[in-house]
Amino acid sequence: MKRQLHLNLFIHGRGHHEAAWRHPGSSPLPLTDIRYYQDLAQRAEAALFDSIFFADQLALGGDVAQAPRTWLEPITVLAALAGATSRVGLIATASTTYTEPFNLARQFASIDHISNGRAAWNIVTSWLATAAENYGGAGQVSHADRYARGEEFMAVVKALWDSWAADSVVDDRAAGIYARANRIRAIKHRGDFYQVTGPLNLPRCPQGRPVLVQAGSSETGRQFAARHADAVFTAHMAKATAQEFYTDLKRLAAAEGRVPERVLILPGLSPMIAATEAEATQLAREINDLTDPEVGRKRLSGRFGGQDFSHLPLDRPLAPEDFPDPSSVQAARSRTEVIINLVRRDKLTLRQLLGYLAGARGHYVTAGTPEQIADFIEDWFDDGAADGFNIMPPLLPAQLDVFSAEVIPILQRRGLFRTEYQGTTLREHYGLPLPASVFDDPAWTAEPLQAVAGV
Ligand SMILES: Cc1cc2nc3c(=O)[nH]c(=O)nc-3n(C[C@H](O)[C@H](O)[C@H](O)COP(=O)(O)O)c2cc1C
Repeated sequence: MKRQLHLNLFIHGRGHHEAAWRHPGSSPLPLTDIRYYQDLAQRAEAALFDSIFFADQLALGGDVAQAPRTWLEPITVLAALAGATSRVGLIATASTTYTEPFNLARQFASIDHISNGRAAWNIVTSWLATAAENYGGAGQVSHADRYARGEEFMAVVKALWDSWAADSVVDDRAAGIYARANRIRAIKHRGDFYQVTGPLNLPRCPQGRPVLVQAGSSETGRQFAARHADAVFTAHMAKATAQEFYTDLKRLAAAEGRVPERVLILPGLSPMIAATEAEATQLAREINDLTDPEVGRKRLSGRFGGQDFSHLPLDRPLAPEDFPDPSSVQAARSRTEVIINLVRRDKLTLRQLLGYLAGARGHYVTAGTPEQIADFIEDWFDDGAADGFNIMPPLLPAQLDVFSAEVIPILQRRGLFRTEYQGTTLREHYGLPLPASVFDDPAWTAEPLQAVAGV
């Protein structure tokens, strides 16, 4: 069979465009209404998307007066969506810096059970400086320390997910045996950041462990992704940088002893689609006119770890010197590089830069006909830049519906995208095998489990 595209729907506010929430094409439901997310998840499933995804940040944006910076906690949302859908994969973001591995392993294993094998975790180290103030207030954890802690966190959660063999639970009423104690193990982790004895208090989940998604882009971040991720989200404004990222990440995955085809690279794409190119451009202009440059300026400041850009005039061409050196930024370092490269390449004014970032915060933004969008997708897919896309509709649900009704059928006719789901789990949609288990290792020997008092 021809190599197939993977499509993830990134659900963000009322759409990815900064001003989507004000546009008549976006949903009138409150962003705290679960029916909004259930409806989008069902639309994505009807269109045969592999998965849907929720991002997360652990502090309220300072510009909430002019922009909706609120959403529901993503793991809780997945639980609600698991019951409202049956096939589409469910990805939630959670932080390795500001949670405990035991909590997180339980939560995602539970979602995987609840959804019958559709859970995935977007692993983030939380780059937002203000998040630190909500967790102990010791100041932002540096980029290097976040990844060091993240690495140990991964060792713990993987061991916890692997602390039950798939055949541990027998639930034999007649014999009075619930589980085989010799197929459950403590993990006895003693590290620099975590002390976790285990085992997890939940049987092995349907996918063995949840699918792991990551979006590291700096050198350390790429290595982390190459070691752990089944799918990698990434932001590019040009095919050439997407190709460089794709080649590098597949190389790093191979160097980690992994099969590169089992690390899916999904760049972001925010397409404004209409019957003619002129109409699509007009729609993009219409929504851009609703943006507020001062909201964009504050967001840019957040991207650069709180850097003050208030002195920069809106209409003078920017220079790379107007920005701090990315290597000094403790936030999402790679996105700052994307922004500075764009400034260097296109000599943008601040107003133009903010206009571009309003589209999808540094991901690829385009306006065109369904045929043009399908051509773009096929070109990146065939030319070593992508295994699929993280689709970021500028307006939800209006532009998701146009994508599903007009672009997906073209991709299907070209043999690039499924016409029905072949499997039921997210691993199956992504073409990934079940992870190996320590219990499959012939050298494995059981130790007695410690007795614990019941509730
Ligand atoms: C599509 C996409 C989604 C992301 N979602 C989140 C998120 O929900 N929360 C978060 O803190 N960071 C998020 N990030 C940021 C990444 O986790 C990462 O910090 C960033 O890409 C910078 O890479 P680096 O950490 O290697 O510098 C996202 C990045 C991308 C490309």
